[in-house]
Amino acid sequence: MDLRIAEEKIDEIGFLNVEIDPTLDLFAEIEKLKKEKNAVLLAHYYQEPDIQDVADYIGDSLGLAQEAARTEADIIVFAGVHFMAETAKILNPNKKVLLPDLKAGCSLSDSCPPPVFKQFKEKHPDHLVISYVNCSAGIKALSDIICTSSNARQIVESLPEDQKIIFAPDKNLGAYINKVTGRSMVLWNGACMVHEIFSLEKITKLKNRHPDAKLIAHPECEDSVLRLADFIGSTTQLLKYTQTDTSNSFIVATETGILHQMQNKSPRKTFIAAPPDNACACNDCPHMKLNTLEKLYLCMKYELPEIVMEETTRLEAKKPIDRMLEMSKQLGL
Ligand code: 13P
Ligand code: SF4
Repeated sequence: MDLRIAEEKIDEIGFLNVEIDPTLDLFAEIEKLKKEKNAVLLAHYYQEPDIQDVADYIGDSLGLAQEAARTEADIIVFAGVHFMAETAKILNPNKKVLLPDLKAGCSLSDSCPPPVFKQFKEKHPDHLVISYVNCSAGIKALSDIICTSSNARQIVESLPEDQKIIFAPDKNLGAYINKVTGRSMVLWNGACMVHEIFSLEKITKLKNRHPDAKLIAHPECEDSVLRLADFIGSTTQLLKYTQTDTSNSFIVATETGILHQMQNKSPRKTFIAAPPDNACACNDCPHMKLNTLEKLYLCMKYELPEIVMEETTRLEAKKPIDRMLEMSKQLGL
């Protein structure tokens, strides 16, 4: 396909759809492009194993934001979803930030449209707004502090006890933080489609079949699943737990991509993906999995699709992210 026509189609289909020579070694080509262009490849744990294997840095949302804030590369290639690449762009207005598929969105972020959230916020004028990083730049611009699942608890605990807080957009993470901190933050009614799919009944049966296995869960899961969990944490925290805990098997209640790193770090241990409510592979995030090695290669070669952002929103969205990064530093996270 003609490159100009392919470029024009990005808005419609989300990625550059150009034929690739099937004899190419994409791993070697991507490494070559990284060096030629001084590009850094940041990947989230939910990316497919091939992408994780070729990444310069793999991490959770906090680690990825910290890495994006400190990189000296000219180009940031973000193998993750849109809000993550957007966060990297907010922190790096003068760098090119690329996302292999612009349609890699997030159901949680989509559950919180800025105009509706603005009205919600206006109903609670004396509240501080803490937003989970899984939200659009428009929501970040309406927030006072951003948090991730790695630092949400500590950020909330560092605020005065009588501080009124709105927590958006994840009601499950918000409810979990309310529970562990004893706060009563007002919660936005959003959720992640992947973490709400786990079947309590099937997890219970699985636990009975594997009595020695520890159930580990991401705080985006519903309370009914979290109540059963032996450990709750962000993807990085879950990964570290599997490395340090003495158990030999784990039932993992989060997106399946993380199992690749768990298995890499602890090859002798057994990892079982917690089962979803039906027969589909619904604990694979359909947004994260839109990125492929082929799209990644094309995006690095042609430097498309690129994240672009309106400057006023970027400046407003940057303030609560900077606050999170500063607080995380002070909290030693
Ligand atoms: P963390 O990697 O920060 O735990 O977030 C999980 C997630 O759902 C990202 O979309
Ligand atoms: Fe969004 Fe959930 Fe996918 Fe994470 S796993 S990107 S929160 S839909």
